[in-house]
Amino acid sequence: MTMLNSTLDSRSNDYRVALDSMIEKLSGIEEELTAVLAGGGEKAVARHHDRDKFTARERIELLVDRDTPFLELCPLAAWGSKFTVGAAVVSGIGVVSGVECMIVANDPTDKGGSLNPWSMRKILRMGDIARQNRLPVINLVESGGADLPTQKDIFVPGGAMFRNLTQLSAEGIPTIALVFGNSTAGGAYIPGMSDHIVMIENRSKVFLGGPPLVKAATGEITDDESLGGAAMHAKVSGLADYYALDEQDAIRIGRQIVSRLNWTKSGPAVSTEVVSPLYDEAELLGIVPPDLKIPFDPREVIARVVDGSDFDEFKSRYGTSLVTGWARIHGHPVGILANARGVLFSEEAQKATQFIQLANRSNTPLLFMHNTTGYMVGKEYEQNGIIKHGAMMINAVSNSKVPHISLLLGSSYGAGHYGMCGRAFDPRFVFSWPTLRSAVMGGTQLAGVISTVSRASALAQGKEFDEEADAAVRAAIEEQIDSESLPAFLSGHLYDDGVIDPRDTRTVLGLSLSAIHSAPIEGTTSFGVFRM
Ligand code: COA
Repeated sequence: MTMLNSTLDSRSNDYRVALDSMIEKLSGIEEELTAVLAGGGEKAVARHHDRDKFTARERIELLVDRDTPFLELCPLAAWGSKFTVGAAVVSGIGVVSGVECMIVANDPTDKGGSLNPWSMRKILRMGDIARQNRLPVINLVESGGADLPTQKDIFVPGGAMFRNLTQLSAEGIPTIALVFGNSTAGGAYIPGMSDHIVMIENRSKVFLGGPPLVKAATGEITDDESLGGAAMHAKVSGLADYYALDEQDAIRIGRQIVSRLNWTKSGPAVSTEVVSPLYDEAELLGIVPPDLKIPFDPREVIARVVDGSDFDEFKSRYGTSLVTGWARIHGHPVGILANARGVLFSEEAQKATQFIQLANRSNTPLLFMHNTTGYMVGKEYEQNGIIKHGAMMINAVSNSKVPHISLLLGSSYGAGHYGMCGRAFDPRFVFSWPTLRSAVMGGTQLAGVISTVSRASALAQGKEFDEEADAAVRAAIEEQIDSESLPAFLSGHLYDDGVIDPRDTRTVLGLSLSAIHSAPIEGTTSFGVFRM
């Protein structure tokens, strides 16, 4: 065992400054999350309760095993858009009858649970997570279908929702729909495409078109119940497999269905002996300096996250701007790559490439801890082959077959974000700390580049350069880029699966790794051509 030796001084001024700044950022995120809990708002929730119905969150709470954690995913979806934050869907991984399942619940208090472009993206992301990690899917359905005013943005991509459900089924991943209310049009195919369907007496209404649409289309006059009620589907159409008497009964049946799946994890067994870190997880709040230009030692984070603070560092004296090594989190083996001083040089890129290959040989999942401003630029570095070495690392990350998790701690800029397995590189999960800043480059740098290019263009055309206008443009661009680099904005765009409280890091990673172990873990020896 190689215990990390922390030198973090929780009485120091640096610690206090970092802590204060983190707490301020964290409360901003918590405020957003509190708003998400309100769903479609107080009035809509009261109206829903008056109809003797549970909210999406209450349904999930009843569904999951008592005293088990629910790993909520993408709660800030749609942040900064015109839609309610959360995108009318509550989703995450929960334990149902002892099985880790992907749970996706429509929020009927938000515009009747209708699906807007962000709901769609969130649901598709949940489908990806379910497929990659082989998690049975439980849809808690009550939705008015497509958000009609935004149909142009959802009509085409919305088809993927149905395609995914059938493909999950084809891959042997069970899909279950508990229908709590309306499930209209596109929404009707959610149960329609599922392996198991539960409907509730006088509550579930599943039809391609409701009575007004049917009247308009064919002139037929009919009613909800005979068109798509639970009784009709249980007795006549055969769409309902189980007939529940009320919401609790539907949830009970749903839990029973899961218990009869005979579902077992396909990943390797986990060490039963789990040792807590030697250092206080609460101190994770005081590590990242408010000024991200000041580096911090990621070993201080690792020491508070991994089992027993036990970390076997790989190539500790080579490419020291990237820390690599082996550890366990809640008993699950992981290889960790963590930026130490922001910039990635050729040595770090080569070290990462070798480390990723080794993890693939030993079937070890990888955890990327981001705090990088990207690959080093400049004549010396270009001449030494920073492009081919960076490409090597990106090649290794792209073709690696072991599961990856990305944890965005501080900066995550440029190609460094890619090399460290950013969102486009399909990490199984991506979580951010409130201290994250991520973009192509920093706002000041980006505004500076645009200004330099404009100046050169004016000069080339023999025009006078307007310094005053340039300063105003620079300030506006800087402000725009900085606001687009913030965690709520990025999470709103589903560039991560959630912004987490740093103190929850070990728990969130443990839950993610546990979900990952639902699927087999197999590395590869086959990478693209490494340019030497
Ligand atoms: N698109 C956009 N907005 C929708 C919507 C949809 N598909 N379905 C409901 N809404 C909105 C309503 O306009 C209303 O908005 P408001 O609060 O600003 O007035 C809000 O959601 C609540 O709807 P309401 O009808 O009052 O709620 P309800 O619980 O009584 O009924 C539905 C919910 C879903 C049964 C009902 O709204 C409905 O039948 N919607 C249309 C369903 C449909 O035909 N979809 C076709 C999709 S292709």
